[in-house]
Amino acid sequence: MSIHVKNNIHWVGQRDWEVRDFHGTEYKTHKGTSYNSYLIREGKNVLIDTVDHKFSREFVQNLAAEIDLASIDYVVINHAEEDHAGALTELMARIPGTPIYCTHNAIDSITGHHHHPEWNFQPVKTGDSLDIGNGKQLVFIETPMLHWPDSMMTYMTEDAVLFSNDAFGQHYCDEHLFNDEVDQTELMEQCQRYYANILTPFSPLVTAKIKEVLGFNLPVSMVATSHGIVWREDPTQIILKYLEWADHYQEDRITLFYDSMSNNTRMMADAIAQGIHEVDPGVAVKIFNVARHDKNEILTQVFRSKGVLVGSSTMNNVMMPKVAGMLEEITGLRFRNKRAAAFGSYGWTGGAVDRIQTRLMDAGFDISISLKTKWRPDGSALAECREHGRQLARQWALHPLEAPRPITTTAVTAAPVVVAQASQAAASAASTLDDDQSMLCVVCQWVYDPALGEPDQLVAPGTPWAQVPDSFLCPGCGIGKEVFEPCGAEACV
Ligand code: FEO
Repeated sequence: MSIHVKNNIHWVGQRDWEVRDFHGTEYKTHKGTSYNSYLIREGKNVLIDTVDHKFSREFVQNLAAEIDLASIDYVVINHAEEDHAGALTELMARIPGTPIYCTHNAIDSITGHHHHPEWNFQPVKTGDSLDIGNGKQLVFIETPMLHWPDSMMTYMTEDAVLFSNDAFGQHYCDEHLFNDEVDQTELMEQCQRYYANILTPFSPLVTAKIKEVLGFNLPVSMVATSHGIVWREDPTQIILKYLEWADHYQEDRITLFYDSMSNNTRMMADAIAQGIHEVDPGVAVKIFNVARHDKNEILTQVFRSKGVLVGSSTMNNVMMPKVAGMLEEITGLRFRNKRAAAFGSYGWTGGAVDRIQTRLMDAGFDISISLKTKWRPDGSALAECREHGRQLARQWALHPLEAPRPITTTAVTAAPVVVAQASQAAASAASTLDDDQSMLCVVCQWVYDPALGEPDQLVAPGTPWAQVPDSFLCPGCGIGKEVFEPCGAEACV
């Protein structure tokens, strides 16, 4: 089935609703993808790009229903990767002498994949054009390393359509073809995910190439990508977005990711995040366990962030493997203009934190001081984590922060009080409590019952709250005694 794009241009591509892995298993395509191929019928018939090799037969069959294959005058291949040039073997078996317009580099990669050096390759470079009749031309623009050495774009004059291949695309499958027809939030999420995970390393080239293309002063009525939607409404919006993303992009956002053997490093992450939030409530803070979360989403969050905190338990004197894998990926993506620091819990050596710190420095981050905690953090260690978070929040602030304000909690009393005062108030209040008074953690609603104690922390049954040690941590959320208040008549039911 073809879809009308504009004038004599039709989409003849393939939707792939079920694909979940791209580039091996490195890119998770939760929203599927599409392989966009375009058929132009002017004085000459031109096919721009094909589809993924796994749809070769379907593609050629559908194309043959659309046009007599022998009447295709030219094939243009903007990029040789298998998701776009993959159906060439099947297609060229039917039209073997048809000229294939591509870059010099693409001849090498197409031949390397398909092993047909006899195909009628017509190499082009930036500024070369091809007359397709009816007063229209195709103009070629090389885009090396965006994202392969062979990549190029093709611009169609008069119709003013830019066939951009991977650039400005998304792994996003929808029955609608045009940007104004789909969910805008989903669309931009997928655009940003695509940029962050694939194009970030090439940001300097993105800026230079877009400026070069804009310098041609060509009108652009549509950007016809090879994945996802066609930009029809305000097509320059995605070009401007790319310029923004390529320019050391960051938001007022901090990402923490970690892996944790015994939950101790997770507790540190939570406490550091609390400290950041206390000092700078406007900053977005996101926390991820790398072992449990979508890697591409974490990388997208890193892309959006001004700073990154990376945590790991120490295992065999090194960091946990999934953290090491993420750092390798982050190094390859070459993020710039971002701060970073390491943290983690350890038992007898703390090698992981030092190694993470070194890797972050090697990856080009502006490094801040790291933080280690021995064994399971107690109340005092968690307080140190919170203070660490406060310091980082001040150091990484993008805007002047208000003078330190009292850190308030309505949990302890109805009126705001500073934490230190809260602790004193809690201690003094505890001394007046009945021995059988239950206590509610106002953060997670866990209840301390003196009759049961908390044997996991060596608090024996029958221990009144006033005698529970200050190092006590809520088993539910890991925060200390200061967030507990006496159970009211109904509060602990
Ligand atoms: Fe670089 Fe969509 O392939």
